[in-house]
Amino acid sequence: MPVSQSAIRLTSHLDHDYLRQALEHDVRSGLASTPKSLPPKWFYDAVGSELFSQITRLPEYYPTRRELAILREHAGDIAGRSGADTLVELGSGTSEKTVLLLDALAGAGTLRAYTPVDVDAVTLGDAARRLTARYPGLDVHAVCADFERHLALLPREGRRMVAFLGGTIGNLDPAAREVFLKELRATLGPGDSFLLGADLVKDTGRLVAAYDDAAGVTAAFNRNVLYVINRELNADFDPDSFEHVALYDLRQNWIEMRLRATRAMRVRIGGLDLSVSFTAGEEMRTEISAKFHPEGLHRELVAAGFTPTRHYTDPTGDFSLILSHT
Ligand SMILES: C[S@@+](CC[C@H](N)C(=O)[O-])C[C@H]1O[C@@H](n2cnc3c(N)ncnc32)[C@H](O)[C@@H]1O
Repeated sequence: MPVSQSAIRLTSHLDHDYLRQALEHDVRSGLASTPKSLPPKWFYDAVGSELFSQITRLPEYYPTRRELAILREHAGDIAGRSGADTLVELGSGTSEKTVLLLDALAGAGTLRAYTPVDVDAVTLGDAARRLTARYPGLDVHAVCADFERHLALLPREGRRMVAFLGGTIGNLDPAAREVFLKELRATLGPGDSFLLGADLVKDTGRLVAAYDDAAGVTAAFNRNVLYVINRELNADFDPDSFEHVALYDLRQNWIEMRLRATRAMRVRIGGLDLSVSFTAGEEMRTEISAKFHPEGLHRELVAAGFTPTRHYTDPTGDFSLILSHT
């Protein structure tokens, strides 16, 4: 690696006031809509990130293992084709899979900088410190930001490869995906590239099991959004009175996670001066996770102005990594 001194920088676009206003807005509008819904980004406080990390190790949750298998096989090829000296990772979380890309870029002799981007400041900071220790000389610039709002503010130095792994793209509905991809494309210059990890359409039983594990970890992850709202907005949700629901919508090709009220109840959200009623059995949507056909992904990338250059998959054809250039 060309740089010999360890460095870590942290930039935050999510100060307390911003987060508070964004959460207030999302909770107020989500609970006023029919059916009620909440965006998945609010799962991820430190507890939610730890629960997600546990999910990635569950026997039912194949996506992480499949994506790892693809990276083990093809990270060298991806690094060589990207020619990147800077890896920017959106929704980086614990950055566990990232080491395969960093190792490959280091092996290619180009690696200079890593920019993890996540809404969860705690997990982001931990990952940045861990990777700084693992790669002495790597310029780590962690950015606490919302990839649906702050793409234009991300650092633009170097020849970048933006990685968006874990199938997180599936949490965006088609309209939000179109905006996201176009905004991302607008931030990239000649020579930059985009590595997208996406889960593919497959047997419904396996898909549902991946979001409804026997040990109940995904259920705890789902309910965590209620603990976040209780803490941040002084609400009195009783998380035990909501059960975890995961179903596959065959028309939309997406998993929906919901929280179902097990009894009629009224919830007070002190921070919003708001009371909300739930009927017994009422379901509130907390996440979609879209599943893709490779041709559909290809079309969406081209429509956003990308040129997909390589499509990698695992031997079972469960998961997909697409490398695109600008
Ligand atoms: C499904 S996890 C994937 C984590 C990791 N990339 C992986 O592949 O295992 C989604 C990650 O994106 C982050 N995240 C969710 N919504 C976000 C947003 N709008 N902006 C930035 N980060 C977000 C979460 O905190 C979490 O770390």
